[in-house]
Order: sequence, then structure tokens, then C-alpha cells
Amino acid sequence: MKSLSNKRILLGITGGIAAYKSAELARLFSKAGADVRVVMTPAAVEFITPLTLQALTGNKVHTQLLDADAEAGMGHIELARWPDLIIVAPASADFLARAASGEANDLLSTLILATSAPVAVAPAMNQAMWGNAATQDNLTVLRARDMLIFGPDSGPQACGDTGLGRMLEPQQIIELAAGLFEDALLSGLRICITAGPTREALDPVRYISNHSSGKMGFALAAEAAAAGAIVTLISGPVALQTPERVQRVDVVSARDMLEASLVATQNCDIFIGVAAVADYRPAAVETQKIKKSSDAFSIALVPNPDIISSIAALDNRPFTVGFAAETHNIETFALSKLQRKKLDMLFANDATATFGSDDISAIALWPQGRSVLGPGNKQLIARQMLALIHTRYTLPRQGDFR
Ligand code: PMT
Repeated sequence: MKSLSNKRILLGITGGIAAYKSAELARLFSKAGADVRVVMTPAAVEFITPLTLQALTGNKVHTQLLDADAEAGMGHIELARWPDLIIVAPASADFLARAASGEANDLLSTLILATSAPVAVAPAMNQAMWGNAATQDNLTVLRARDMLIFGPDSGPQACGDTGLGRMLEPQQIIELAAGLFEDALLSGLRICITAGPTREALDPVRYISNHSSGKMGFALAAEAAAAGAIVTLISGPVALQTPERVQRVDVVSARDMLEASLVATQNCDIFIGVAAVADYRPAAVETQKIKKSSDAFSIALVPNPDIISSIAALDNRPFTVGFAAETHNIETFALSKLQRKKLDMLFANDATATFGSDDISAIALWPQGRSVLGPGNKQLIARQMLALIHTRYTLPRQGDFR
């Protein structure tokens, strides 16, 4: 089955006895890795409670068009822009009629009008209502507007009739929905990325750090999420927006970054260390601001833990990828880092050109080979890096460090 991992699914539920199956549908979407938001019509809440759907999806359920609280959070236009797919299941005869005539008299019908996402409906109704010319005319209109119609099935109905009008089973709907998406390169892979600098405090107002902007790590996170990966981004202090569909953990020091990385790595297939981690920190952090004096001043430093080496040393290590920014002898120094830190891959780059820049050129190194990437902008090169990582990750393992 194609993957629903990381997809945004807006599940609309209308009033009908088949609404009880929507709980299972929401559960299956979540289990497949989709982010699910549920919108219920007033009639739907007569059949199944919003609380059930909230518990199954982990997201607040939307029920009202005119809801000041909801509008303050995710307003209806924002909600219409959010999904990759809207699926209405069950879709009642009344809902299909309102959608066909373009009404916007509740939240769900309004979203259908306002969205640019594909919309699929899984009709469920009595067989006579399904066969009625009015319903069939409405379906003709909706099909002509590219609405996808999943089902219905035929068989015994809750009202005692037998015939067409049963909602498809949740598993069938899941398979049809998944079939609408392309297979993404990194579908379902869990990727942890460190980015940005670390700051090592000297006193309450001063720290040691470097010029990493976080741009390279954030570009990799954005591209990995767009390629279907489930991404955790562990970031030092940077002034960048969190990419869509990425879970971000903010840290300050190298020791914070190590702690967050060890937690994230418990659930991670690929670890990419892009962060420029401070190799040393002050031996002591003064609790009060250090006062200026005319004397020479020196700071005693102690080594920080090496995060990526700690990850690579884990028994059940993820595929571990490092970066190395060097000012000279770039490839020689980078190769020795690849071996010393026991990495599966490493991207060597020129420190003087890459820190803070929008562009990068890099040499990809792994135990059996190398490849040259760029120059190009970090977003574009990130895509190429991920393709290389994916190839090495999926190849049979021989001669690497795992
Ligand atoms: O953030 P940008 O402005 O976009 O810049 C991108 C970058 C220059 C920061 C990035 O391309 C890069 O090269 N990052 C690595 C920086 C570096 O020189 O790292 P290093 O040589 O000190 O470390 C090698 C590897 O070990 C890196 O994967 C690093 O994350 C990791 N490391 C280093 C020290 C340490 N204590 N723990 C680590 O995990």
C-alpha cells in the first residue's frame, strides 16, 4: 500500500448510522502515520461523540462554523488550507445535496468550498435514497467537479433494506485514500537532525558559540519531511521558522543537544548531525557577571561530549551521518572524521563559504566511496544529500560501521 505517513487528512463526518465506523477510520489513518483532524456536522454529533474522535486523533475536533475559540486557533480558512486530502465518511444524502448546490451553512460544507485539496466522499444512506434521481444528479455534478466518490457498497442495511448505500469498510477507504498519494522517497522513515550552533555559557550574559545559522539543518529537515519522513529537528539557538510537518526540539548547549539527541534516537532510523557543536565549554559558569579588569583574562575550557560519536556507539545505532566544515585540507580531515567517529556518511564542506550562507557545495564521503554535490542552494543540495543517504541506507550493509 502507498504511504499515508506524514499526510494531513481532514476527516469530515456527517449524520448517519455509519458514523460509528468513522472512529475506526480515524484510528487507521492515525496508525498509518497521518495527521488527522476531524470536522463533524451537527447531525454527526448525534451519532458519535467528538471526544471519541479527539482521543483517537490527538487533535481537537471541529464542530462549529461560528466558533470564536476555534477561529482564534485554526480558523476555517486556515483549516481549509491545511489538508492534503479531505475525506467525508460517511457522506449523507443531505451533505451531497448541499455540496452539489455549493451551500456553506456549516463548517464542513464551507471547508469543501474553500479548500484546494482533493475531496473524496464515502456515501452512506438507505438504498432508495441512493437510487433517487436527486441523489444521482447531485453525484453527477460532484463528479464533474472532480470530487472522488468512494463506494458505496451493497448489502444489508441498518434500516432492514438490502441494496446499494452501505459505506465502504474503513480499511477499504484507507487503501483508496493512500492510492491518491505518490510514493515519497522517505515515506515512513524516522529521521533526527541536529542543526545550528550550541552556546556554552561563561556567565549569565556571555557565551562561546559559532556562526552556524541553522540553514543547512533546517533545509534538510524541510526536504526530508516533504519526502515523507517523520522528522525530529534538534536545534540550537537560531532565528529560523520551523519547517512544516517537522517536530522541533530547542536546545542551547552541547550537553542539552546530546540529551535531546539520545531521547530522539530511541525512535530513529537515520541520524544527521549538521549542528556546529562547540567542542569545548568553560570549566566553570560564573553565577554573576564577570567584571572587567585591566588584567589579562583567560578561560579554562573542558571538552564537550561528542554527540555523533555517542550516537554511533549505541548498540542499536541509526544510520549515522555527519557533517564537517573545514577551512583547509577539507577532504583529508573529513575522511579522518568519518573513520574516527565511525560514521556511515559524512558531508565535507568549506567552512569559510558555508556558515550562514544560502548555498553550499559538499563532498559526500562514505566508507567505500565519494560524490561531489553542488554548488547550489541549501534546499536543492539537501534534496541531493537525502537521495544519497537513502541509497546508502537501503543498500545491503557491507563494510560500514553498523
Ligand atoms: O548552519 P549553517 O549556517 O547553514 O552552516 C552549515 C554548517 C557549516 C554548520 C554545516 O554544513 C556543517 O558543516 N556542520 C558541521 C560543523 C563542523 O565543523 O562540525 P565538526 O567538524 O566540529 O564535527 C563533525 C561532526 O561531529 C558534525 O556532524 C558535528 O555535528 C558532530 N559533533 C561535533 C562536535 C561535538 N561535540 N559533537 C558532535 O556531534
